Amino acid sequence: MVPPIPPRPLRAHRSTPLSGRVRVPGDKSISHRALMLGGLAVGRTEIRGLLEGEDVIATAHAMEAMGARIDRQETADGAGVWTVDGVGVGGLAEPADVLDMGNAGTGARLLMGLLATHDLTAILTGDASLRGRPMKRVTDPLALFGASFVGRSGGRLPMAVRGAATPLPVSYRVPVPSAQVKSAVLLAGLNTPGETTVIEPVATRDHTERMLGHFGAALRLGRDDQGATTITLTGQPELRAAPVEVPADPSSAAFPLVAAVLVPESHVTLAGVGMNPQRIGLIDTLREMGADILIRDPRIEAGEPVADLEVRASALTGIEVPAARAPSMIDEYPILAVAAACARGTTRMHGLSELRVKESDRLSAVATGLAACGVDVTVDGDTLIVHGKGTVPKGGATVAVNLDHRIGMAFLVLGLVSAEAVTIDDGRAIDTSFPGFVTLMTGLGAPISLI
Ligand code: S3P
Repeated sequence: MVPPIPPRPLRAHRSTPLSGRVRVPGDKSISHRALMLGGLAVGRTEIRGLLEGEDVIATAHAMEAMGARIDRQETADGAGVWTVDGVGVGGLAEPADVLDMGNAGTGARLLMGLLATHDLTAILTGDASLRGRPMKRVTDPLALFGASFVGRSGGRLPMAVRGAATPLPVSYRVPVPSAQVKSAVLLAGLNTPGETTVIEPVATRDHTERMLGHFGAALRLGRDDQGATTITLTGQPELRAAPVEVPADPSSAAFPLVAAVLVPESHVTLAGVGMNPQRIGLIDTLREMGADILIRDPRIEAGEPVADLEVRASALTGIEVPAARAPSMIDEYPILAVAAACARGTTRMHGLSELRVKESDRLSAVATGLAACGVDVTVDGDTLIVHGKGTVPKGGATVAVNLDHRIGMAFLVLGLVSAEAVTIDDGRAIDTSFPGFVTLMTGLGAPISLI
């Protein structure tokens, strides 16, 4: 038998003050979209700041397998500049092999949107985490365009997609707040004649809409009679190649940010962080808890708001985090729960049912890991309740990551402020979204190392 790649256990010890100015890698959501839309545009799209993590590389391979030409050059300072020569809307070719999307839910679901309205057959798979995640939420609306799907029980990957030869335009009300579902429908609408409309009762990240506009598609925003946002795309536009500057990922910045808030006397600046209004719920929440976070030099880069965040260590107080805030910080609950564990008083995080279908069941992973580290935590339905004592958590546990990068990084941050070191059983998943995490954190002074 071929020996498996060994796990990479990592350990974080209690830290002395963190300091420095760093830029975390590019935004994962925007990176996937830049490769997909660049791959459909006419001409050469140049992408700077692309996240070179495994999830995004899987999308690059998939687009290449369907005819886009993708290259990477390096600037003198070692930064990657990616070019994508697109095939034009409707021009994707049938991939000759199975598309392995690795750990990437966004890559898989958005790509299914593209495939659904091309006259081709493609088969998608992924790692054990992705193969366990629900796909019905995208196959239901994509079937309305005329696509068909054959997957495993429960609508899970591996799955064959048979794209519609003559797609029909769709009007679809998204039943769960999900930017992936919204985006899959809009991307399917690209190669569909007529107008495709997504009705979104609860706002989620709008990177797809912004980037479609950036590449020249015609989008119309409105409201239906119940107050939901309507997004209408005119199908079969000619997308024109457009340069993309990918902001630093706010969901990755969240880890050094919370570490800097929690480790006493820290002072850290995070450069060029994406400040899309649908992504910054964590900053609002931490500020309500008492965190000292300054937003410096706000600016717009390639259609997305960006700023530098100056963070100082602060004492936090527990608060109620309303369910309405969940879409704007859906990936940040593991690290918010770590902050809550160090706060004084109770933090109740409401409306977290979607956390159960992320890279792992994050609601249960967070509760189990915090409890193992001596934190008083309960789950009540879809509410996570953390009773902070305003003191240092005990720590001292080994937390199982289960292929979930954000669980791994959150518990390493907990280790930086715990009495006893915290270990994660396997740090390999961190490379899906935050390559260089350990190097960046140790550069700020955090004692995190391989064991
Ligand atoms: C994403 C949307 C969110 C988020 C994920 C990235 C996207 O997922 O959790 O990490 O890029 O559209 P949902 O659409 O399932 O909420």
